[in-house]
Amino acid sequence: MPLAEDLQHIAIEIAREAGELARRRRREGVSIAATKSAVADIVTEADREVEVLIRTRLTEQRPGDGFLGEESGAESTLADAPATGITWVVDPIDGTVNYAYGIPSYAVSIAAVSGDPEPEWWLALAGAVYNPASGELFHAARGSGAWLGDERLAVNAEPSAAGALLATGFGYDPATHAGDLARVARVMPLARDLRRIGAASLDLAFVAAGRLDGYFERGLNPWDHAAGALLVAEAGGMVGGAGPRRAAGKAMTVAAGPTLFETLLRTALGE
Ligand code: IPD
Ligand code: CA
Repeated sequence: MPLAEDLQHIAIEIAREAGELARRRRREGVSIAATKSAVADIVTEADREVEVLIRTRLTEQRPGDGFLGEESGAESTLADAPATGITWVVDPIDGTVNYAYGIPSYAVSIAAVSGDPEPEWWLALAGAVYNPASGELFHAARGSGAWLGDERLAVNAEPSAAGALLATGFGYDPATHAGDLARVARVMPLARDLRRIGAASLDLAFVAAGRLDGYFERGLNPWDHAAGALLVAEAGGMVGGAGPRRAAGKAMTVAAGPTLFETLLRTALGE
């Protein structure tokens, strides 16, 4: 089996097991374990437990790979670079606020990337985004398309005459909200409507599936978009951001079909 497909298979299997653990813990009741960068940025015991499970499984199956997870940061079996050149970029529960409130829009997001594990430089090889509350598992391997179960995904080629159905998100830090709202005001003339689903990995998966025409957000971390961005690219869409390389990342992440992409990116950036 080619490497990317092998990694995809591992991502799918582990995302399913991790998602079932998250769902079980949700049923048992969730409490907030701590706040992180801002009071609104929370972590539950389940986030931590699910990340440990994912990491344990990856270490069993791919002991030479690196690991970059939301709850444990960057670690690899070697000091700087993983022996295999591959790093797993993991969000154990993306949409933690939804999870804590019982809104069934959260997901386990697992991606395998090669090269420097920075969104600007990495090459995404495989990814899985699993929402255990809906049972939907989105997955992709580089060069083999994006899939929802066994249905092949394609982005919307053309937004309708009524405008694009878009999604966005807002950072946890209140200091960023004025800028986020100004961006929404700039983008609204392109939109037929705007969604705030609350899990970046699902926003991206929905662009890949043609359920959204586009998505834009500032402030994402690598684990929020690693798997979802590959889904969009493999579904024929485009993903980008700010800076000289226009790479998706903290400064900006935009995803859309090829017709809408450039306009949405420029508008989101205020160019
Ligand atoms: C968050 C979600 C949210 C996005 C935030 C992310 P978390 O991830 O993806 O939709 O707006 O920027 O941090 O904290 O729930 O894993
Ligand atoms: Ca996240």
